[in-house]
Amino acid sequence: MPDLNNPNGGNGAGGASGGDGKNGGKIGLLEKVTTGVKQDIEALKTDIPTKAKEQIEGLKDPTKTQVYTSIFRHKHDDTPRNRALGVLSNVFLHLHPAKINRDAVRYSYTWGMGGITFYLFIILTYTGVLLMFYYHPTKVQAFRDVLYLEHDVPFGKILRNMHRWAAHLMVIGVWLHMFRVFLTGSYKKPREFNWNIGVLLLVFTLLLSFTGYLLPDDQLGFWAVTVGTNMARATPLLGHEGPFGAQLGMTPYNDVRFGLLGGSIVDANALLRSYIWHCIGIPIVASVLMIVHFWRVRKDGGISGPAQVMLEAEADKPRRGPKAAGE
Ligand code: HEM
Repeated sequence: MPDLNNPNGGNGAGGASGGDGKNGGKIGLLEKVTTGVKQDIEALKTDIPTKAKEQIEGLKDPTKTQVYTSIFRHKHDDTPRNRALGVLSNVFLHLHPAKINRDAVRYSYTWGMGGITFYLFIILTYTGVLLMFYYHPTKVQAFRDVLYLEHDVPFGKILRNMHRWAAHLMVIGVWLHMFRVFLTGSYKKPREFNWNIGVLLLVFTLLLSFTGYLLPDDQLGFWAVTVGTNMARATPLLGHEGPFGAQLGMTPYNDVRFGLLGGSIVDANALLRSYIWHCIGIPIVASVLMIVHFWRVRKDGGISGPAQVMLEAEADKPRRGPKAAGE
């Protein structure tokens, strides 16, 4: 009778030389697998009910479940350490300092203007991306797209106006923020570098507004950009009407104004250039500068703040923190 476990059994070929050793190994493996599976099934019979019981018990106190503790990795008792850990171990909250000087974050001190300016930038980015779905930066389409948005696109009018108003408010916000920083003397040591980053942010905010002006391709934008870029003619060295411009070979066809417009008049190329600067170039640079700006606020010891106010109840307690050491 042929050996059923032996694949070579019966055909004679290779049966004598080393065939048995091979099959012996296979039988061993099969047995191991079978026993393993049996053991697993036995274990599951006891493990599953135990695990289920544990899970049901855990639901009575969800903060003890494995899922919960894998997300929130610290205790929640109201201690200063846990409060600090709550901020530090969260990707969003850790952007804020774990501890702040309560007088420095009062609206009466900051006017909230830096935060409001940033908030407006987020609104502008969001509404701007939505506007891009409806807008083509070409002479034929641009103004028609704006009319389409105003009159036909559902919520198009509010979308466009949210973008416009947020832009106006951002320009006002950034000036007021700068004014507050000036009034509180927060440009002084160690914040000089951040003041300079701020100046760049101001310039880029204004550039965002200016490049957006042309995009509807209406009369207002056309003439605003005509006037604005005409000023570039008078740029020293780089403008064909500016000091030393002519001597350096500047003409209306190769000077800085030509570079800005992509031609010698405000036309299709100027529209395309404005669009790319407005939607890609300037927002990227401004975002990077904002990241540096916020990082610097933290590194310079947080928002400057007035001299610390002490509650009457705290007056007889020893003061803690960096200020106390320097006093
Ligand atoms: C896109 C524009 C800007 C944004 C989003 C922005 C945002 C902020 C935020 C959120 C703060 C924290 C304190 C606060 O809210 O007042 C801050 C602080 C500061 N900003 Fe700005 N800022 C901008 C432009 C400027 C400009 C134009 C300047 C000055 C030229 C400036 C200089 C400073 C300085 C020196 C601080 C530290 C102030 C302190 O410690 O009291 N920033 N900025």
